[in-house]
Amino acid sequence: MAQPPKTPPPPYFNIDPETASKKLTDPISTARFAKAAAFATKGRDDLAKRGYAPDGRKRLRRFSTWEICRYLIPVAPAHFRRVLKQNPDLPQGEGDGGAKWFSLEDVLKLRDFFAAEGVSTREYRPWRPEGIDAKVIAVANFKGGVGKTSTAAHLAMSAALDGYRVLVVDLDSQGSMTSIMGGQVDDEWQTAFPLMAKHYAQHVEAENKVRVAAGQPPLPLDETLTEALGFAAKQVIQKTHWPNIDLIGAQLNLYWAEFQVPVWRMQQRSWPLWDALSGFMESEGLLKEYDLVILDTPPALGYLTINALSAADILLIPLGASFLEFDSTGRFFDMLYSTFASIEDGENSMRRTHGLPEIRFEWDAVRALITRFDAGQQTDLANVIQAYFGDFMTTYRQEMTAMVGQAGEQVNGIYEADYREFNRDTYVRGRETFDRTWAEVKEIILGCWWRDLQMADKGDE
Ligand SMILES: Nc1ncnc2c1ncn2[C@@H]1O[C@H](COP(=O)(O)OP(=O)(O)O)[C@@H](O)[C@H]1O
Ligand SMILES: [Mg+2]
Repeated sequence: MAQPPKTPPPPYFNIDPETASKKLTDPISTARFAKAAAFATKGRDDLAKRGYAPDGRKRLRRFSTWEICRYLIPVAPAHFRRVLKQNPDLPQGEGDGGAKWFSLEDVLKLRDFFAAEGVSTREYRPWRPEGIDAKVIAVANFKGGVGKTSTAAHLAMSAALDGYRVLVVDLDSQGSMTSIMGGQVDDEWQTAFPLMAKHYAQHVEAENKVRVAAGQPPLPLDETLTEALGFAAKQVIQKTHWPNIDLIGAQLNLYWAEFQVPVWRMQQRSWPLWDALSGFMESEGLLKEYDLVILDTPPALGYLTINALSAADILLIPLGASFLEFDSTGRFFDMLYSTFASIEDGENSMRRTHGLPEIRFEWDAVRALITRFDAGQQTDLANVIQAYFGDFMTTYRQEMTAMVGQAGEQVNGIYEADYREFNRDTYVRGRETFDRTWAEVKEIILGCWWRDLQMADKGDE
């Protein structure tokens, strides 16, 4: 009688140590990484030549009459067509027959036209009070994969579709935001690094004035710092494929800032390292030039994140409705507390001895935001999280949608996807989840601006 075939043992049994040792190479030294990197670069170029690389520049798609009237300008399609016919100088869109397609530049022009000529009770242009600074929104959480970059990118795009002028700053050296925005970054001089360096160099220069006046020798500025002193915002800000989104990009070299900043701080204990980004935005007039600044941060509470948090008016903390993400977000709040409390303590004890006013960090609003939400599986947990965070949390939960990250190699935002490629329901639902996140964040932004305006008016009285 035939024996039933014997099931072989699982592969992790019977491994012979001696044979295993022979498969090993010599121990790896750091130099080996350089070799691996060099090979990868060669391989990358090879693949690029064979057409595997994304074709470089991104282009923004066009928007149809349906989309414009449904999502972008509050007019009825028939009226929209009539107005275009009556005004041949306005962008007329492209395409034969019924469907006309417009670039976002066209949409922005049309919106301005309707705002000037249309019914005055309709909101054609989003509100931004005059004379009040841009709002800075940081999206942060020290856990990776929680939806920081997706949230930040979609907020930037929603705001741009609304007609706001947006500056996006990618502070994550992995550069995901930069690739979503189609940015090209060659080295650290095209990232936020020179902004940090300039802020420090200016601090040293100010210090040197005091030293020279006191008859002390000035502190030297090295080559990097000297170069940074002459650095202007426009050298580091790049245009994107969105007409009203600009970018300060990131790439791996930006990580160098995490090593350099503490060294500078050691050299000059009085340098407020957390102020570099906000100081730069203010001195370069960026808070006047843009309506919103959106900061995407790395999954760590390093110096770049601290700068983002300290520059932020509004802090958004994305998390998934899972035990682990809730737990780690709780610890993130704890770290925020200890980090900023210790900065305040250290700074204020120094300030007290010099008779200077004390500093206190302050945010207009802070919101935890549930991302990648699956109502079928996560409602109970999300409700518990909501109960604990209370008004520290947005009420809307950003849903999981197949439309994010499905574009394969190319990272795209939902707003960049052509709705004709999807089932209409999938599109409407997918889009709605980000529209509603924007609506809630926009409400916070407008509320904060309004409050600023009241304060400014009071100041004037
Ligand atoms: N609403 C969503 N629906 C589906 N997938 C999402 C959604 N938001 C984010 N993702 C996916 O989750 C992953 C992590 O998101 P990402 O924004 O890169 O997180 P982080 O910046 O915090 O690391 C990405 O693959 C992204 O495409
Ligand atoms: Mg990210």
